[in-house]
Amino acid sequence: MSDGDGERESTTDRGEDPPVRRVSDWDAERLRDLAAEHGTPLYVQGLDRVRENCERLLAAFPDADVRYAVKAHTGRAVLEAVRGAGLDAECASAGEVDRALAAGFGGSRLHYTAVNPPARDLDYVVDAAETEPDLTVTAGAVDTLDRLAERGYDGRVCVRVNPGVGAGHHEKVRTGGAAKFGVPHDRAAEAAREAAERFDVVGIHAHPGSGIDPDQLDSHRELVARMGDLARELIEPSEDAGDAPGGADPVDLEYVDVGGGFGVPYEEDAPPLDLPAVAAATREAVAPLPAGVDLAIEPGRYVAADAGVLLTRVNTVKPTPTETVAGVDAGMTDLLRPAMYDAYHPISNLGGGRKRDGSDGENGASAPAEREATPVTVAGPICETGDAFCRNRALADPARGDLLAVGVAGAYGYEMASQYNSRPRPAEVALDDGTATIARRREALDDLTAVERESTPGGDGAEADR
Ligand code: LLP
Repeated sequence: MSDGDGERESTTDRGEDPPVRRVSDWDAERLRDLAAEHGTPLYVQGLDRVRENCERLLAAFPDADVRYAVKAHTGRAVLEAVRGAGLDAECASAGEVDRALAAGFGGSRLHYTAVNPPARDLDYVVDAAETEPDLTVTAGAVDTLDRLAERGYDGRVCVRVNPGVGAGHHEKVRTGGAAKFGVPHDRAAEAAREAAERFDVVGIHAHPGSGIDPDQLDSHRELVARMGDLARELIEPSEDAGDAPGGADPVDLEYVDVGGGFGVPYEEDAPPLDLPAVAAATREAVAPLPAGVDLAIEPGRYVAADAGVLLTRVNTVKPTPTETVAGVDAGMTDLLRPAMYDAYHPISNLGGGRKRDGSDGENGASAPAEREATPVTVAGPICETGDAFCRNRALADPARGDLLAVGVAGAYGYEMASQYNSRPRPAEVALDDGTATIARRREALDDLTAVERESTPGGDGAEADR
């Protein structure tokens, strides 16, 4: 729950912002200027839009605890914008907890979801709990609870349940039914009751998966309904619950967390999620919870996705019998989603390039809007066939030097960037009320070898796990 520091009441009008920002809604002139100033590939993240997205979530779920799933975008500027808007932080690793703490998410606004947590992550979080005793650890296995207890932790715990149903934009991100996540649904009540003997059990949690679109709301509703039932059973146990002769002791829950997963439209003509309708369906499915028990949600993508674009420059144009290949300076190392999930990202040609024959228009090429649409494959510089942002998509006939904006890239974009092929990670600019600041500098070639040059023999902390 947002602690009572008054930040949750925002001055902006809730619910009045457009439900989606399309790639065509960005100020093309501004993007061209930013690319000229900072080079490409370049991420641009609009903090105003991050705040608007937070506002819409808070407006749709006014009584819920809204926790930002930090993994979608961990940049400091984004975290501070989200904190300022009044959301809590849900973290997936010690690194994310560290970033969230640095961005001011202390106390009860900090949630750590431990998935097969490495020993050093648990050590870090148990240590952090000394100074932040109101943080909550969500554990998805009894083993994880044991490992917390072994470290002397007896603080706030939430039990992650495998609800047996899931949803999401791709099988690789449907978590709800995957055995990896959470205590199996039929054992969850027992696990929570046992945990309550060792910890302060404050919640139960389930996450359906990521990128749920309007067609998948039935499984979302099913998950929420199961969680509501489980919460009531824990708070007011039925007479035959538990092994003890007098029945099971009630577990004093503060919240039921039904995870994130709210989808955003990537295709230009896809409708946005009707958030108020999703909220109404969620409330109906969870059914009345006992007084004092809150609903909690953990959106990541919804907060950050349409607040970001990736700018990339065309450096090679190659006509082939089937399509024109536009070679660009960003690749799967900058934005992995198309290669990993066959994810669709809208692409807009902002022009500025020069045709080979130099014949057309002011810059040698006419404005993209005036060019004929042609099948284009936008491919990056990585030596893998999968390194393409789109294939055979009808786009304005590309010219060398054109700037392309790859839209809806603000969530799981920079976060999943890598240095594969020894490519430095791109720069990122944060736009706030018209002011642009470098949020993450472009990596240099030196950054690629820094960890080799800085390593000392035996100094990598290779302690044994337990
Ligand atoms: N809560 C938990 C426990 C999660 O694991 C996740 C995402 C979320 C909340 C937030 O889900 P969201 O609201 O962002 O859908 N890299 C993939 C997405 C992986 C999401 C993993 N977990 C992608 O680019 O589509």
